[in-house]
Amino acid sequence: MSEQKATITFPEGNSIELPVSEGSEKEKAIDISNLRAQSGYITLDPGYGNTGSCDSAITFIDGEQGILRYRGYKIEDLAEHSSFLETSYLLINGKLPTAKELQTFDDKIRMHTLLHEDVKSFYDGFPRDAHPMAILASVVVSLSSFYQDEAGSPEEVSYLNSIRLMAKLPTIAAWAYKKSIGHPFTYPDNKRSYSENFLYMMFGLPVEKYEVDPLIVEVLDTLLILHADHEQNCSTSTVRIVRSSGVNLFASIAAGICALWGWRHGGANQQVIEMLNHIREDGGDVKKYIAMAKDKDSGFRLMGFGHRVYKNYDPRASVIRKKCEQVLQKLNNNDPTLEIARKLEEAALNDDYFKERNLYPNVDFYSGILYKAMRIPVNAFTVMFALGRLPGWIAHAKEYTEDPKNRIGRPRQVYTGETEREYVPIDKR
Ligand code: ACO
Repeated sequence: MSEQKATITFPEGNSIELPVSEGSEKEKAIDISNLRAQSGYITLDPGYGNTGSCDSAITFIDGEQGILRYRGYKIEDLAEHSSFLETSYLLINGKLPTAKELQTFDDKIRMHTLLHEDVKSFYDGFPRDAHPMAILASVVVSLSSFYQDEAGSPEEVSYLNSIRLMAKLPTIAAWAYKKSIGHPFTYPDNKRSYSENFLYMMFGLPVEKYEVDPLIVEVLDTLLILHADHEQNCSTSTVRIVRSSGVNLFASIAAGICALWGWRHGGANQQVIEMLNHIREDGGDVKKYIAMAKDKDSGFRLMGFGHRVYKNYDPRASVIRKKCEQVLQKLNNNDPTLEIARKLEEAALNDDYFKERNLYPNVDFYSGILYKAMRIPVNAFTVMFALGRLPGWIAHAKEYTEDPKNRIGRPRQVYTGETEREYVPIDKR
């Protein structure tokens, strides 16, 4: 807390002083936690655009300058030099691991990749066309019924459950895909790396040898790093608030998966590719769709554009765009949706509507083109996002749990309903 104070003057003429706190990157906040007790007023901030819900030492974003850092490390450096498991360790434990620490983390995760055999039968209950996000959330919450009353301190139990989640989510996700196409489940092969093992479970079959292209493994690992955390976004705030009720980690993460699913958040990556395909099939006239996005009555938004925090190019989108160009070229893949995406981006960035509102491509704008090149089905794109975001959710749940100041998350409201009135018996209404 800094020495500075902010003064608020109320319509009644009285004023109070409120403490000001400052983060390590000089972000300033007015601490209003005693505002109601001191004044009778609450703050009102629908959508929480100006509300800090916690102190956090995990991720820093400067949306004006397009900066993103995990634990102080630039996202561009991590995408180039790190692996997904190393980045996960960094997010969860706060420091880059030594070679030995990384090896132990990796070994522990490999040891837990299997699902309990009874979980297999859950998949029988889902319809063939179930959305994989529904399966993912359901199976993740069901893990809490398999791992209950564990021995050990709360920290040890939480650590083990974090490892289980990291290990099992790729298996759960790949089996959701196998269910949708009627193929037998492929069991994890723990000799393979994290990303390779996921691709093997997605596309491997018992009837033929499956070789995973190392380029695709590398791209997947980078995509997972880019999605690994993004401070207090909708799904992460959901994980924290659900955890704040005292519920177990599996239930908190399942809630985060549900929050991620929506089109305003992680669900946008599915919507982007559907939009690009639609524009292509409609003749590729990007101007028509730019005009529709500007027309508030059209009900159409440019998916993969705009962000609550970034008022500049999303640094993750820059990395993904570059990767997209390189990988498609290496794979000799002439996906026409990349050309549509490029044209759409150029038209939007030169249009006053998008310029005035600082609307730039976000992480989802180009990711779908890469997922498509990897043969990931469109309705599983958001599942890929969830695989990447998992270590961030775990890190936030851990940070919340270890915070001695933590309290149950419980916002207030300004009530706008009826004032007290008499109950009317049913025969008198
Ligand atoms: N296309 C057209 N107009 C847009 C878009 C868009 N993609 N995004 C925002 N706008 C306009 C809004 O209509 C609004 O205009 P107005 O000031 O004239 O009313 C203005 O820009 C501000 O938009 P808000 O919706 O108020 O911004 P908010 O911060 O609440 O929403 C969001 C951010 C949800 C990401 C929004 O930009 C959006 O809907 N984008 C498309 C969906 C998307 O790509 N989501 C993924 C986000 S990244 C992630 O979660 C991984």
